[in-house]
Amino acid sequence: MQEKKYALITGSSQGIGRALAEECARRGLHVLMVALDTPELEATRTYLASTYPIEVHALGLDLTQATAPQQVFDWTQENKWTVNVLINNAGFGRGDRFECIDLRVYQAMMRLNNQVMIELAYLFLPQLKSQSKSYLLNLGSMESILPMPNKAIYTATKHFMYAFSLSLHEEVANTGLSVSILCPGPVLTNEDGLKRIKGGGWGAKMILMLPDQVAPIAIKGLFSGKRVIVPGFMNKVLLGINSLLPLPLQMRLLRKIGQAALPPERRVKG
Ligand SMILES: NC(=O)c1ccc[n+]([C@@H]2O[C@H](COP(=O)([O-])OP(=O)(O)OC[C@H]3O[C@@H](n4cnc5c(N)ncnc54)[C@H](OP(=O)(O)O)[C@@H]3O)[C@@H](O)[C@H]2O)c1
Repeated sequence: MQEKKYALITGSSQGIGRALAEECARRGLHVLMVALDTPELEATRTYLASTYPIEVHALGLDLTQATAPQQVFDWTQENKWTVNVLINNAGFGRGDRFECIDLRVYQAMMRLNNQVMIELAYLFLPQLKSQSKSYLLNLGSMESILPMPNKAIYTATKHFMYAFSLSLHEEVANTGLSVSILCPGPVLTNEDGLKRIKGGGWGAKMILMLPDQVAPIAIKGLFSGKRVIVPGFMNKVLLGINSLLPLPLQMRLLRKIGQAALPPERRVKG
């Protein structure tokens, strides 16, 4: 009998994670959802289980808690679920001048966007490598490649995941595991994102995507072994143009974009 294939997706109760979970379900993978213990988690679990002929299991917990990654791993081991696809999606960002955001917010951001992703990758790596074909997808952002002023810590967490993913991709090249990083531009998901997109003017709106547009591109890219997955034609064009510019000009343009969402008194002139 063929072994069942499970996809574990963190932050899958809503937003990009939910769309990635649904895309995995559509492709016949059994889904393991991990997110905060909220009604949305159970609602999404029920929706997926009643829409697709697959198993869907959910674990509600705060991933920023010290033992959470180990609890996630133990949950899969106790139930004898072999994770074939690990999607490190749960993460969040905040935008403002560096010193205007509470240090505790940065600590939680670095924990969720980096440490938790690394710990989950570390714990599941032996199991992933033991399979003839398996996949690890980390959530980056276009800001993994473009260092965005006024989002200094968020952009740094996404650079960290970018470097980690590219490096690990090469380290496991002679195994069945393929490691990718997903680098979306703005995606309409939560209220915070909506505020930033509104503030970002026509530029942000032009490259705006929906989670349901991003997910099929992401999973297709993951299964075809792409190192870096940038969804959306305009995003690829922007990254291409940006890479041709000298660094001071790149950063001046990014400063303008990064300032658009700030109240006028917080903007740097020039
Ligand atoms: N949206 C964008 O424009 C955009 C662009 C590029 C990259 N990204 C990246 O894509 C990923 C998903 O972003 P999104 O916009 O889809 O976010 P979202 O709509 O806010 O959803 C985040 C998901 O993560 C869960 N989550 C948040 N904190 C958690 C915690 N401490 N423990 C467990 N689960 C937690 C949330 O659960 P609850 O629903 O219970 O809160 C939710 O399921 C992030 O890594 C983000 O940085 C987003």
